[in-house]
Amino acid sequence: MFLIFAYFYTGRADSQKQNAIPKVGILQLMSHPALDQINKGINDTLKKNGYVDGKNIKIEFQNAQNDQSNLRTISKQFVQDNVDVAVGIATPSVQSLKNATSKIPIVMGAVTDPEGAGIISNNKKPGKNITGVSDQAPLEAQLELMKQVIPNLKTIGIIYTSSDASATSQMKKMQKLAKKQGLNVKVSSINSVNDIQQVGTALAESVQTIYVPTDNTVASGMKLLSSIATKQNIAVFPAATTMVKDGGLATVGLSQYELGEETGKHVVRILEHKEDPATTPVTFMKKGHLMLNEKMAKKLNIQFSDSLIKEAQKKGQILK
Ligand code: TRP
Repeated sequence: MFLIFAYFYTGRADSQKQNAIPKVGILQLMSHPALDQINKGINDTLKKNGYVDGKNIKIEFQNAQNDQSNLRTISKQFVQDNVDVAVGIATPSVQSLKNATSKIPIVMGAVTDPEGAGIISNNKKPGKNITGVSDQAPLEAQLELMKQVIPNLKTIGIIYTSSDASATSQMKKMQKLAKKQGLNVKVSSINSVNDIQQVGTALAESVQTIYVPTDNTVASGMKLLSSIATKQNIAVFPAATTMVKDGGLATVGLSQYELGEETGKHVVRILEHKEDPATTPVTFMKKGHLMLNEKMAKKLNIQFSDSLIKEAQKKGQILK
């Protein structure tokens, strides 16, 4: 009698324990500094809110190494594991999670254009199981910065990956904006990191400066692009601060870490039943941080204006 009781008792305690520890699956498209920062911001925010991995939460992190079949396999695994919340870092991760489940809450970790990528139909009223954070960059400020730094700017080049929804969306917006301001825009696309050398070289030969959107492939090959452009004395203006650290000249960009923090806050609120993705608008972050790379400026013989340097000293960052 006692044995039977003990058997049931332990059985129940076990399943209760399983339910008590929520599971969060994080699917990161690939490794590059921006996405790594976002992941760090998510993890730190969970910790700050009292969620300690292995103790009162299980965080299942997976890196898809920029591979479609990995994305699918991992997404299916998260559904099988019945995670409480699934986080996708970058657009393809979220698209893959979306294909795997319409029930489990999904949080977007930095999807530039959720509507354009077909992930949700209305950023203000997502309506289903997906909400999260957009990393839409302050493009006007970025174009303004290029005009300030490059004298007599008339022709800019944009390099982007044609299969990258986020980069394509930004490329189109920047192209429109620059044309409206009377600039010539030359757009070159790549399919993979292997194309950067050839396409980057040709582009640098025919423009005054190069702009890079938040393109996952270019972000992973940013050092290469920068060295190619520098050889021809061409500055690269990237959309994200992490890419300035990898050889870009300057940007007014969002903090990738803060994007991760905002993503983490969505996760916490969903775990605590304070947020329903269907009724939670996508978070757009407006605050750009000025970042100047003085080392690159010296290499390119470019002098930042005093006012720009002052602004960066006060509110931004200068890399020396
Ligand atoms: N916005 C990208 C996407 O939706 C992901 C991303 C976030 C990114 N920050 C970035 C890409 C910085 C390149 C650089 O896929």
